[in-house]
Amino acid sequence: MRRTGFGHLAGLLLLIGFSSFAAQATGDSAAGLQKAAVCSACHGADGNSPVPTMYPTLAGQSVTELTQALIDYRAGSRQGGMAAMMTAMAEGLSDTDIADLAAFFSQQQRN
Ligand code: HEC
Repeated sequence: MRRTGFGHLAGLLLLIGFSSFAAQATGDSAAGLQKAAVCSACHGADGNSPVPTMYPTLAGQSVTELTQALIDYRAGSRQGGMAAMMTAMAEGLSDTDIADLAAFFSQQQRN
């Protein structure tokens, strides 16, 4: 009985450990959809910008590009152009928010 109980506990801990690792490594695009509501005014609801000359299209960009851009804006290390506007947007984002948003926009079809 004791061995079985321990085995279950170990399995459970392993599962919890693995799922929190997976959540960090890849964002949740369903959560990203919710969080993208504030982005839609400028970038379009699905990341296809209504005014691409002003607001870049995010749909179909890679997770790496999107994640790096948001980390750079948040840190204030991406400057010039209208970067200050995005720094203001990115300042309130957590690492999880960024991962979720990157997952969502990378999965949208670029028009
Ligand atoms: C008020 C308008 C506005 C809102 C709202 C906004 N953005 Fe932006 N975004 C911009 C502008 C302008 C740029 C171009 C900035 C520059 O010159 O670097 C940009 C650039 C970006 C880029 C870089 C894209 C590229 O191809 O270089 C990403 C990624 C991005 N925004 C993500 C987001 C996300 C995610 C949100 C919502 C949390 C958001 N933006 C909300 C205006 C906005």
